[in-house]
Amino acid sequence: MIRNKKFNRRKIALSGQAIHTNRLILKPMTLADEQGFYLMRRDPDMMRFIPIGTIDTPDDHRAEFTQQFHENFEHRFKFTYGIHLRSEADMIGIVIMRPIPDGSMIEIGYWIRKGFWGNGYAAEAQKAMIDEQKESLKCENKDIIAYVMVGNSASKRVLEKIGLTLTGTDQLESVNCWVFHFPKN
Ligand SMILES: CC(C)(COP(=O)(O)OP(=O)(O)OC[C@H]1O[C@@H](n2cnc3c(N)ncnc32)[C@H](O)[C@@H]1OP(=O)(O)O)[C@@H](O)C(=O)NCCC(=O)NCCS
Repeated sequence: MIRNKKFNRRKIALSGQAIHTNRLILKPMTLADEQGFYLMRRDPDMMRFIPIGTIDTPDDHRAEFTQQFHENFEHRFKFTYGIHLRSEADMIGIVIMRPIPDGSMIEIGYWIRKGFWGNGYAAEAQKAMIDEQKESLKCENKDIIAYVMVGNSASKRVLEKIGLTLTGTDQLESVNCWVFHFPKN
């Protein structure tokens, strides 16, 4: 039976346009962002609340990133923007807005490289991303969901700062997560 998904990863996409905020430039991730991604993937503090491990060597990372970029584009990178500062050569983070696997909701998410934590960049990037991409994804605030590994208080705070509230918990691939939504009106 073919299910008619509300948000189908194959049929929808982000705008592809760069987004400029007060301090940040958000733009589609490309293979050139491999180094910026590695600077996050190698750091155990970064990966503490992400259910994938660290990658220790640049060569291993380059190989995995290149393979994943091509093989997983439709499910991951197509819905990911890099977060850039004018002063930094490599991206300082990523911001995601993509349909969840059953197509019922749009999931949001973000990483900021550790050296840049605590400047409000995650909240600034995610808010701009939602404002700009809702039209491209044809979604509204009520369609947006966020999953945060239980205990990730910094991420919880980011979501609260941009207006979402904790609505419950769920198991995602055996990981206990807090679930967040925008309040209904
Ligand atoms: C979560 C993360 C994206 C936050 O990035 P950031 O740019 O530092 O976030 P912001 O500066 O916008 O906001 C962080 C807020 O959390 C607060 N915070 C930081 N550490 C905290 C902690 N341990 N407990 C509670 N609050 C905390 C900050 O004070 C700030 O709130 P404030 O502005 O009211 O002071 C960053 O820590 C990160 O990339 N972590 C690793 C990847 C990750 O966990 N991503 C989220 C997956 S759901």
